[in-house]
Amino acid sequence: MAQARVVIPDDFELPVGAFDIPRCYDGDLSAVVISEGMIKDRVRRLAKDIHQTIGDEPLALLCVLKGSYKFFTALVDELSNARYNCPEPMTVDFIRVRSYEDQASTGKIEIMGMSNLNELKDKNVLVVDDISDTGRTLDKLLKTLIETGVKKTWTALLLSKKVKRFVEVAEDFVAFDIPDKFIVGYGLDYNQKFRDLNHICMDDTNLKANNIQSKS
Ligand code: HPA
Ligand code: MG
Repeated sequence: MAQARVVIPDDFELPVGAFDIPRCYDGDLSAVVISEGMIKDRVRRLAKDIHQTIGDEPLALLCVLKGSYKFFTALVDELSNARYNCPEPMTVDFIRVRSYEDQASTGKIEIMGMSNLNELKDKNVLVVDDISDTGRTLDKLLKTLIETGVKKTWTALLLSKKVKRFVEVAEDFVAFDIPDKFIVGYGLDYNQKFRDLNHICMDDTNLKANNIQSKS
């Protein structure tokens, strides 16, 4: 069956009181937007879509920390199941990406965590990231990988935010399209809080809308 997108409507909000939320977050959240169960279901299907598209080739999975840590482990588990009869192994690597914006807005990124990106040379690389909004950091990362000499890249994104893209970046596998609201949970943070939350939620004040830049 063809890949369909799951688009979360702008006003979609589930009551926090209907979910099991850790006590430390009492009063911090205004709504659950995507529940853990829904994420699990989508990740399972995404893994099947990825396997169908990429096939049985060897695959290097690249986790962009910190935001995608939960999505990554869930996806690797589902991909292992989807590739059960595949003779080729998957590998996992972990990086953090810091972006700098200079005055010309050309931007530079620093990739941390992998001592030698050349290990990905000639490999099929699936970049797993939590969220794509402006597209800039992901675009730079993909370009860096191509310059490193990887064979091919794909992206798997937990969330794609409906905001204007500065650059069009390949969004090959997207679990959810979400409204332009600041969300937390399932790996995504506000000042390093909420990463451990199992659901994707909106903060009580909608975290001052768009002017918050979270560290990934
Ligand atoms: N929440 C957390 N981190 C983010 C977001 C968000 O909505 N957008 C980009 N990084
Ligand atoms: Mg990120």
